[in-house]
Amino acid sequence: MAGTCRICTGDLLEFVDLGRQPTANGFLRPDEADGEFFFRLAVGSCGRCGMVQLIEEVPQELRYHAGYRYHASGSEGHRAHFEANARRFLATELTGEDPFIVEIGSNDGVMLATIAEAGVRHLGVEPSANVAQVAAGRGVRVRGTFFDEQAAAEILAADGPTDVVFGANTICHIAHVGSLLRGIDTLLTPTGVFVFEEPYLGTIVGDLAFDQIYDEHVFYFTATSVAEMARRHGLELVDAEKVAMHGGSIRYTLARPGARRATAGLAALLTEEAERRLAQPATLAELGRTVERIRRDLVELLTRLKAEGRRVVGYGAPAKVTTVTNYCGIGTDLIEFVVDSTPGKQGHLVPGSHLPVLAPDAFSGRYPDYAVLFAWNHAAEIMANEQAFTAAGGRWIRYVPDVHVVAAAEAEAA
Ligand code: SAH
Ligand code: TMP
Ligand code: ZN
Repeated sequence: MAGTCRICTGDLLEFVDLGRQPTANGFLRPDEADGEFFFRLAVGSCGRCGMVQLIEEVPQELRYHAGYRYHASGSEGHRAHFEANARRFLATELTGEDPFIVEIGSNDGVMLATIAEAGVRHLGVEPSANVAQVAAGRGVRVRGTFFDEQAAAEILAADGPTDVVFGANTICHIAHVGSLLRGIDTLLTPTGVFVFEEPYLGTIVGDLAFDQIYDEHVFYFTATSVAEMARRHGLELVDAEKVAMHGGSIRYTLARPGARRATAGLAALLTEEAERRLAQPATLAELGRTVERIRRDLVELLTRLKAEGRRVVGYGAPAKVTTVTNYCGIGTDLIEFVVDSTPGKQGHLVPGSHLPVLAPDAFSGRYPDYAVLFAWNHAAEIMANEQAFTAAGGRWIRYVPDVHVVAAAEAEAA
């Protein structure tokens, strides 16, 4: 037995081992490169409730702190998406008298800034002090703690019940599910909803997006496993909707049992998941094998380009870059550096593999021959912005779902 399920205490069956890895967003200053924290990044599925999850976990205080490098407002696509999210809540769930919304993991205020501008009562719960401070500067009300049942009780006492609790790319980070869902139960009004959108196991399996696996992603949800998780905690999954984020996420809506009618979209997704045999051991074992193939192909390609004297850099330093470079053993011998638009990442090193992260002008100032697209979920935005690179003869390298050099015509059409 590889471990114990955090939802139901069933046995975990391990299916992929990505080796020794640091915390994915733990971008280091060059003087911090010694004494880095490592753990074994491996994923298993629960034989009883089907939830896919990390075998080992990193304490949350090591993941989220005042030096948290991920700023959600870092891309135009993210900003537009979360503003649309906020507008939808304002038009649907937040129309009653003096409505109240809580966001778990509000980060730099990418979503709540729009709610704050509309003058609607809100609270962001965000333990990473640096990003919380950015949100506060945008007029967002923030509580600087981890969300759990105690935080929920304190919020209820101070602000009253909540019409909407929202989370994006945060709920799958929270290992203490029991405390989380008891907190939701404490906070929600009788007709309130808990809405969260998270990376999808179906995308990881379908597109072989194995670099979505890292320390922060404790759970790899499906509608099927979320329905079971909700049921075990006295809540009901009433909707699941595909969202074009991070290569294909799902937005789940939980409500009190019987309070909302389950949607046809949820039923369709549950059927689709059963047909795909998504969380079946055979499907997951296959994922483990193909990930090894991607590693072999990527290292082979980079080694060949190096031998041919080509310059190769990386584009984007999302958390994913940590998983890929550490799993594949890619260091500065194969990739000179990566560029990223996030100021807080620049001048730092990618955790574990220690590739330098530079500002985008290191790329545009002297185009390399090839650029590995680590921020592949923003491919269209990036390739469109970097047409001059392709025009100068530069080529993009992608590695999910397979390792390939993007044809010039495809990059130009982006
Ligand atoms: N919602 C944003 C940010 C996601 S990053 C987006 O979708 O882009 C995840 C955020 O969750 C981080 O800012 C982290 O500090 C925060 N977080 C992690 N655990 C949390 C917890 N238990 N309660 C509240 N926030 C948490
Ligand atoms: P994310 O997909 O997890 O949001 O991470 C994307 C990373 O890529 C983030 O660090 C910002 C970076 N990025 C760029 O450097 N240039 C770009 O044009 C875009 C869209 C993102
Ligand atoms: Zn389980």
